[in-house]
Amino acid sequence: MNVLVVGGAGYIGSHCVRQLIAAGHRPVVLDNLVFGYRAAVAADVPFYSVNLGNESEVGKILKKEKIDLVMHFAAYAYVGESVTDPLKYYFNNVAATLHLLRCMMGCGVKKFVFSSTCATYGIPEKMPLVETMPQAPINPYGQTKLDIENALKSFAHAYGLSFAAFRYFNAAGAAEDGTIGECHNPETHLIPLVIDAAVGKRENVQVFGTDYPTPDGTCLRDYVHVDDLSRAHIAVFDKLDQPGTALFYNLGTGTPTSVLEVIHAVEKVTGKKVPYITGPRRAGDPPALYADSTKAKTELNWEPHFKTIEPIVASAWKWHSQNPDGFKK
Ligand SMILES: NC(=O)c1ccc[n+]([C@@H]2O[C@H](COP(=O)([O-])OP(=O)(O)OC[C@H]3O[C@@H](n4cnc5c(N)ncnc54)[C@H](O)[C@@H]3O)[C@@H](O)[C@H]2O)c1
Repeated sequence: MNVLVVGGAGYIGSHCVRQLIAAGHRPVVLDNLVFGYRAAVAADVPFYSVNLGNESEVGKILKKEKIDLVMHFAAYAYVGESVTDPLKYYFNNVAATLHLLRCMMGCGVKKFVFSSTCATYGIPEKMPLVETMPQAPINPYGQTKLDIENALKSFAHAYGLSFAAFRYFNAAGAAEDGTIGECHNPETHLIPLVIDAAVGKRENVQVFGTDYPTPDGTCLRDYVHVDDLSRAHIAVFDKLDQPGTALFYNLGTGTPTSVLEVIHAVEKVTGKKVPYITGPRRAGDPPALYADSTKAKTELNWEPHFKTIEPIVASAWKWHSQNPDGFKK
């Protein structure tokens, strides 16, 4: 299939581009490089440095490249900033995405795979999370993702759009060969921050809250390997042939891992001591967030290859140690 990968120069998108090629598909990347890196995508992959909300340009690309399906990874994803500058988030994550979808409908491209998030669940009452549990985001970032999920449902009904929305837990790790990996600026994700502390790029890493009702008192999260996420995006293709299909899946390993366990895994993998300081809880951090991904397992035959934290950290370390300065801009 010809697949337009919107946000394909970013962390998860660039890994998915590789998986698409490996599975025999033809990816075409659209990314305005506000955060991504051209170097994260092979030079021979068609690349358009365009804003996803630019309907006239996107329309030309859809036709020229004979696109069959659009994967949409592009979004702003800093939770704290979404609280202080929500307009920025609604414009990029909601308004621009609606332009993209309108453009697709106009061009007759009716298959869509969307990057959603466990942040749409807010502060859940029960764990693990299943797809049917209530969604009540507690910040504008999560709300923008839920808004698009809801728009997609209406578009499936009204226009015959077929889509899958994947609610990722914590994406982590890097490609097996260590040539692409996570490179956010600023970085807010735990594993790269802990690795930076291990190698002395940061003075320390902060642990927010040590009095949670969890085995070691620190928050529990579900780290899922970026290549496992990518494989789910391709596994769903067969399900999107029927017009009007609306699918939602949680993607996680289902294994809760604490902040201290991540720190210890980084120490073990790198052989370096991680300096960390402990502090009070951060507002809005639920004690535990982990997935029940039975639906993806049953319907997509999707099983994460990386089931525990150490091999995930090892793959991240391979990328970081081989590319201490990240991608060249
Ligand atoms: N990383 C995670 O742990 C995680 C967890 C849950 C959900 N998600 C979602 O997954 C998606 C990908 O996350 P990521 O970590 O790869 O993010 P990323 O920032 O690395 O990648 C996003 C890419 O989209 C591009 N982009 C942003 N706005 C654009 C626009 N208007 N036009 C064109 N390109 C644009 C950026 O340049 C970047 O390359 C996001 O939608 C995010 O909300 C990520």
